[in-house]
Amino acid sequence: MSTLFINIKELIQVRNEPVSFVSGKEMKELPSIKNAFLLIKDGLIFDFGLMSDCPKTKVDKTIDASGKMILPSWCDSHTHIVYAGNREGEFVDRINGLSYEEIAKKGGGILNSAKKLQNLSEEELYQQSKIRLEEVITLGTGAVEIKSGYGLTLDAELKMLRVIKRLKENYPIEIKATFLGAHAIPSKYKNNKQGYLDLLVNQIMPKIAAEKLAEFVDIFCETGYFTAEDTDYILKEGKKYGLTPKIHVNQFTSIGGVQVGVSHNALSVDHLEIMTEEDITSLKNTQTMPVALPSCSYFLSIPYTPARKMIDAGLPLALATDYNPGSTPSGNMNFVVATACIKMNMTPKEVINAATINGAYAMNLDKTTGSITKGKTANLILTKPIKSIASIPYNFGSNKIETVFLRGEAVNFN
Ligand code: NIG
Ligand code: FE
Repeated sequence: MSTLFINIKELIQVRNEPVSFVSGKEMKELPSIKNAFLLIKDGLIFDFGLMSDCPKTKVDKTIDASGKMILPSWCDSHTHIVYAGNREGEFVDRINGLSYEEIAKKGGGILNSAKKLQNLSEEELYQQSKIRLEEVITLGTGAVEIKSGYGLTLDAELKMLRVIKRLKENYPIEIKATFLGAHAIPSKYKNNKQGYLDLLVNQIMPKIAAEKLAEFVDIFCETGYFTAEDTDYILKEGKKYGLTPKIHVNQFTSIGGVQVGVSHNALSVDHLEIMTEEDITSLKNTQTMPVALPSCSYFLSIPYTPARKMIDAGLPLALATDYNPGSTPSGNMNFVVATACIKMNMTPKEVINAATINGAYAMNLDKTTGSITKGKTANLILTKPIKSIASIPYNFGSNKIETVFLRGEAVNFN
């Protein structure tokens, strides 16, 4: 099956020479070709260039993209989209004055979601989660990481990971699974945190490895949840089972998690709303991708990750949604890039780099997605007619996507 796009107003994020990620000043550059063609064959990017060089070969389908742009699909490297029910009640509690921390202390928060999930069948959890997955695909996401962490028991964590596996088998989107057993301390282990960590390490990790249910390991390193020392323990033990670290750090407080992540060569450190000079310095010249989650800052009214400071210090940055029932009930990457421009002072070119190639790197998918490069998967966004690529963040809240292509095929769930 081959499709030829012709007269593309601008083909965005063209990388002839593949890059793993872009950092610092490089993030301001977003290579593109104006008046371009793009040829995809058997689900992969086969050729692209100026319209004047467009091949005359026979194809199955030709799409005239006059006035429209094409960019690689969004790469959302941090989500929790497999969850049960919702937390709309807590949303109203927060409007009425309770803080996210106060709600968690009352047994709400992650423990509330865990209780709901433990009581739900695997089939029902799949049915609820697939609706969210289809929604994010329609919004332009072509690769997504999904975490466990609302199970907090052996059975419920495995249930979540099996649902992620089933989604992966049934949808053409790229999916990576992360084990986040250390998301909160279950009430049963309130006075025995080490006992819970040992359950994760000695009972759950071996099962995950045996069934190949996850590629990454995560922990919520935060005051009142898990310490830097706990983080070190989980990452060290995770490595024994082949799990690469990607961690939640510095959402509310800076307690040394960034340094622990770097010392374990974490693939990414995520959240980073509160960053000290030392945290920024320790990420320099490492292979660890900092990931910002601006929709979470928006929804909880907490500080935004200091992206400008970090990029100006030469760091790379990825953007992701954090789609989850408590802090970010939205999986819209278009809103994420708009918010990063509006609230974090990133330029449209920087946010597109952050939400495509850098996001792909943060889930170990940079070899196959995140840019228009020959041989990469044809996961693409075809925009509506737009004036410039800045239109996507500028027209925040409106949908500038006309069609989403995954593995070369137009996606339509209706
Ligand atoms: O990334 N901060 C930790 N975990 C999630 C939110 C968890 C929840 O409130 O359900 C996050 O924001
Ligand atoms: Fe998260």
